[in-house]
Amino acid sequence: MRIILVGYGVVGKGVTTILAQRYAEKIKDYGFNPKIVAIADIDGAVINPKGLSPEKLEAIKKRGYLISADPEFGQPGIPALDVIESVEAEVVVEVTPVNIKNAEPALSHITKAFKTGKHVVTTNKGPLALAMPALTELAEYNNVYFRFSGTVGGGTPMLEFAKRCLAGDKILAIKGILNGTTNYILTEMSQNRVSFQDALTNAQKLGYAEKEPSMDIDGFDTACKVVILSNWIMNKKVTLKDVDRTGIRDVSLQALDEASKKGNTIKLIGSIDGNNKPTVKPTEIAKNNPLCVSGVLNAINFSTEYAGEQTLVGRGAGGIETASAVLRDLLDIRHKLANRMINNT
Ligand SMILES: NC(=O)c1ccc[n+]([C@@H]2O[C@H](COP(=O)([O-])OP(=O)(O)OC[C@H]3O[C@@H](n4cnc5c(N)ncnc54)[C@H](OP(=O)(O)O)[C@@H]3O)[C@@H](O)[C@H]2O)c1
Repeated sequence: MRIILVGYGVVGKGVTTILAQRYAEKIKDYGFNPKIVAIADIDGAVINPKGLSPEKLEAIKKRGYLISADPEFGQPGIPALDVIESVEAEVVVEVTPVNIKNAEPALSHITKAFKTGKHVVTTNKGPLALAMPALTELAEYNNVYFRFSGTVGGGTPMLEFAKRCLAGDKILAIKGILNGTTNYILTEMSQNRVSFQDALTNAQKLGYAEKEPSMDIDGFDTACKVVILSNWIMNKKVTLKDVDRTGIRDVSLQALDEASKKGNTIKLIGSIDGNNKPTVKPTEIAKNNPLCVSGVLNAINFSTEYAGEQTLVGRGAGGIETASAVLRDLLDIRHKLANRMINNT
């Protein structure tokens, strides 16, 4: 499997590390032989049809140089779109920064990959939040696979759990704590009686929150994940504008105290059911509810017709964790391609 990696930041590096670390094992266990033939970032690319050495690239980047400065295979200034179009590969792994205004540059990268017959794995919520129904249709039209398990739950397989493990059952409703930053802030406020502002400052110091924290604290990040779950698991055709969204800015210590007196606390919950609009809002839940996780953890609960309540808990972010979701998607595509070949013989 020849792979073009677009974006070489925290997740991109996690992908090259994870592919290099377990290479022999993956060939032995899955017959999976991945080869990164190009890496493109904002300044250019490195391209080698025979495969790139991740160790060498990491060393270049650690010394503070651009990857396109590689003396043998570097191509400074070449846009990622040209790399996707011109380099022969089976899969594009798209891991550029999220943008929920117009989903660029990822939206163009993904559509170019589809139109040139390449499967796509992404961890970028932007294109899915704004255009998921259109993108899944375009992938089908071009007969390619589109996988995005790292967009919800980081390395925790929330999408696969619902899609595969609960296949055959009917999922009636989904509720989740899908954003670690807001969960950290609410946990700090309720357990340590810290003000919202101080908890946010702590989260920023620890690297959990961005300098511009709106994406997390105003509930946009959770809303993006609700869109992905709604489309992929609940078969709804929705985008970000269809989600009723309230963030956590107005959650007060007093409200948390009141909730606590009843054995409850307040969490930012994303929820989807059969009838109502998908919603993101601060919600009171019992402290002994399995969904009620602390700190930066994420949790998701599926209410199903036959198997009852199922809750999955795990880390919702992190470079290597999210890269493990990319590997999961690559293996899934490899499996699907192998089945296609069997069916065609
Ligand atoms: N980090 C996590 O824990 C996590 C978890 C789940 C999902 N995600 C999602 O995964 C994606 C990647 O996250 P990250 O943490 O790896 O981000 P990051 O560290 O900021 O890396 C992004 C990479 O994309 C490159 N890039 C920016 N604009 C580009 C363009 N126009 N063309 C090509 N490359 C471009 C950047 O290059 P420069 O460095 O040169 O600007 C950088 O190499 C994001 O969408 C994020 O929301 C991240």
